[in-house]
Amino acid sequence: EQGERSRLIEAHRAAAEFYAAKLADPEAAPGRRFLSERGFERVDAERFGVGYAPAGWEALTRHLLARGFTAAELVKGGLAKEGRRGPIDRFRGRLVWPIRDITGDVIGFGARKLNDAEDGPKYLNTPESPLYRKSEVLYGVDLAKREISKQSRAVIVEGYTDVMACHLAGVTTAVATCGTAFGAEHIKVLRRLLLDHTGAQGEVVFTFDGDSAGQKAALRAFADEQKFATQTYVAVQPDGLDPCDLRVTKGDAAVRDLVASRQPLFAFAIRSVISRHDMSTNEGRLAALDAAAPIVAGIRDRALRQLYGVDLDRWLGFNNERFVMDRIAEV
Ligand code: GTP
Ligand code: MN
Ligand code: MN
Ligand code: MN
Ligand code: MN
Repeated sequence: EQGERSRLIEAHRAAAEFYAAKLADPEAAPGRRFLSERGFERVDAERFGVGYAPAGWEALTRHLLARGFTAAELVKGGLAKEGRRGPIDRFRGRLVWPIRDITGDVIGFGARKLNDAEDGPKYLNTPESPLYRKSEVLYGVDLAKREISKQSRAVIVEGYTDVMACHLAGVTTAVATCGTAFGAEHIKVLRRLLLDHTGAQGEVVFTFDGDSAGQKAALRAFADEQKFATQTYVAVQPDGLDPCDLRVTKGDAAVRDLVASRQPLFAFAIRSVISRHDMSTNEGRLAALDAAAPIVAGIRDRALRQLYGVDLDRWLGFNNERFVMDRIAEV
């Protein structure tokens, strides 16, 4: 219902302002330290609307009730949850990032704990709500949409700090899922932006922490969609740094270089399979061939499949394309 939706959007706007103001409180010192250790200055935090959720049980709740929002609205939007004696704040003692929809309205928050010793997950998110649908939410999409269409490219990173680091480093097409695996609904959102422009196929570049589970899920999502797979690229930092850590240790240019060093999804997938085998023995190389063959066999475009067969032969050092292609054909 339209009335409810705009009420919840108003509540989120007010919450984001409240959190942003609280970042200046003495209590938020660990949050400010976190940001500065990640290479973010005060203006950067302001640009992205980063804030602080006070540790008390009902700081935000009281603030919003006083401004005329109802307890039911706060709970429905996920800003508060039902406690034993009335509504309590969902996010407490955490750094918060406002999550905006494509039009720029705040629809939820991501919240990071500031003390590792505390229990609870490292990040908390707004739960599913009339505004917040986690399967399609992309953090940063409001900032990146124009450049995604213009450059026909979207860069997918893992976290809020990575989106910030990318944008500040000049990779202005970066977005992130919010604590969920990249999936079909995210693809739909991006495809709309990528096709918006000229109708030409754009590219989607995934960056990941070295060994993350999210990586595998994302690759699966794309492998399922063969047509899109040929537009999919992967950029991994050899030492496993995420874009945020990379920017802190090596600077803005290193973040741009990471994206520039992207490889096609198929090349990346084949190479990662190979890297898990011992290339110094025939047994190892044959095992690698048998592990990689299904990937190549699964490439629907015949010419592309052929080209990857040639690559695979070279990467395995057989010097026998016929042998490799036969093996692929047998899959
Ligand atoms: P920072 O120290 O915050 O930079 O953490 P990191 O770079 O190690 O973050 P990590 O790679 O673990 O997480 C990246 C993103 O995954 C975060 O921005 C969150 O969106 C999500 N995430 C990580 N941990 C959790 C968690 O415990 N719960 C949820 N819901 N999401 C998480
Ligand atoms: Mn990680
Ligand atoms: Mn990370
Ligand atoms: Mn990080
Ligand atoms: Mn980290």
